[in-house]
Amino acid sequence: MAGPGAGVDSAAGASADPAAAAQSRRGLIGTLVVLAAIASILLVLLGALPAARSDPYTRSTLQLAGSEERGGQLFMINCAGCHGIAAQGLVGPNLHGVVGRKNDRQLIQQVVSGRTPPMPRFQPEPQAMADLLAYLHALA
Ligand code: HEC
Repeated sequence: MAGPGAGVDSAAGASADPAAAAQSRRGLIGTLVVLAAIASILLVLLGALPAARSDPYTRSTLQLAGSEERGGQLFMINCAGCHGIAAQGLVGPNLHGVVGRKNDRQLIQQVVSGRTPPMPRFQPEPQAMADLLAYLHALA
């Protein structure tokens, strides 16, 4: 009982400076904790939620209303060779229900990035991309 109490007393009573030093260390640690928290929030926003860093192309595409009919025509010309004329899957996967697996930003990335060969990198105008999105949504 007396042991730990005495230890604390003698440490605190040794000098006023260690206490002040401990105080400023606590301030520094507090600052570092806050910085670490901010950094991890930023990492989550940038990494785990691609939605939070949409590029100008994606943003302007998402602002447009797409035409399902026009999207279907674009699909026949550009995509049906691999995904099938009814998007039922061929070389590329069946796209029915793809909107349940990928959100609009991920779908745009899929089309414009070229990150998943053999699917090529497409560069549709934002309106054409919006039309393709409308078509993919209509596939359900
Ligand atoms: C040369 C063949 C090819 C063409 C052309 C092509 N794709 Fe693909 N696509 C693929 C392949 C292969 C995959 C699977 C890629 C992977 O995930 O590894 C894929 C994947 C996808 C996916 C994701 C599917 C999923 O289940 O997550 C979407 C969406 C998609 N394609 C849309 C399109 C659209 C829209 C076009 C036309 C603008 C297109 N593709 C043209 C081959 C193609």
